[in-house]
Amino acid sequence: MKTRLNMKIGVSGASGHLGRATVAELVQRSGGHEVVAISRTPETITAPAQGRFGDYNRPESLAEAYAGLDRLLIIPTLEPGKRAAQHVAAIDAAVRAGVKHIVFMSTAGARQEEEPALSASYWRGEQHLIATAPAWTILRMNFYAESFVQQAQASLGQGVLTGLAENRVAFVARGDVAAAAAGILIGDGHAGAIYNATGPERLSGAERAALIAEITGRPLAFLAITEEQLRAGLTQAGLPVEVVNIAISIQASFAVGAFDIVTGDVERLGGRPPKPLRDVLAGALKSPSA
Ligand SMILES: NC(=O)c1ccc[n+]([C@@H]2O[C@H](COP(=O)([O-])OP(=O)(O)OC[C@H]3O[C@@H](n4cnc5c(N)ncnc54)[C@H](OP(=O)(O)O)[C@@H]3O)[C@@H](O)[C@H]2O)c1
Repeated sequence: MKTRLNMKIGVSGASGHLGRATVAELVQRSGGHEVVAISRTPETITAPAQGRFGDYNRPESLAEAYAGLDRLLIIPTLEPGKRAAQHVAAIDAAVRAGVKHIVFMSTAGARQEEEPALSASYWRGEQHLIATAPAWTILRMNFYAESFVQQAQASLGQGVLTGLAENRVAFVARGDVAAAAAGILIGDGHAGAIYNATGPERLSGAERAALIAEITGRPLAFLAITEEQLRAGLTQAGLPVEVVNIAISIQASFAVGAFDIVTGDVERLGGRPPKPLRDVLAGALKSPSA
């Protein structure tokens, strides 16, 4: 694909894990483009990326933040209740600022749902983007392999990996999502496309448990439990109710197959094959004999 010269490419939500990784991917392949990293903490941005202040909860800050950009990636926040309004505010500000092509980071399985369902705010963002942006691309990310590491660690403590039903998930490493996003932002021919950033395989609960057992040398099985049992267990572990609700909503999405999709999009867009879950888990979980 042909690449345009001298674009100003923005990343909004730039100082988080995914934002930093995407900015690094862009800088690495920038070839004459300017990279603008928009964050509530622009002082953390390092050259050659240019830092600008922007806060989704303060839409007035976004006009200046997005001014002069040719392309912009909107990265969502970890504030589920506020996210739909934040997406709409960011998209409106980008359209008003004249950004020519807006890329929206969404989630696998996004569909018409009501809050507090996991994908409700993403679906709202996707719909608003399609209705208002001059050119758009959506990148739906699968479940982070790095986030599964936390579930794996907790399951080792409990001696069982639980879910609401047997299901398959194509866990993707964050760095691979970033590489795919950078490929879209820098490349051409992506307008109107909905991509899925996924890992290389869709693993069942039993396969995930077996992988953890193999890496750590500790026996582990997958067990389907009810929502009530899951809620009681998480509450007993001392988690606040909002975190419990998010964990349940994630497991409900897994159970209906929202993350059960494998594509070649990471390799095509990012230029390298996606990391298997095994590699991310092995790096994070130490075997007792290691
Ligand atoms: N696929 C998955 O499995 C999965 C798992 C967890 C989360 N996610 C989603 O993916 C997103 C990115 O993941 P991550 O690992 O990079 O999360 P992270 O490290 O927690 O970063 C969160 C990002 O949200 C931005 N942000 C928060 N409040 C903001 C506001 N009011 N205005 C503008 N930006 C705001 C932050 O930007 P600044 O600090 O730079 O302003 C930061 O870049 C998350 O926020 C969440 O929506 C996906």
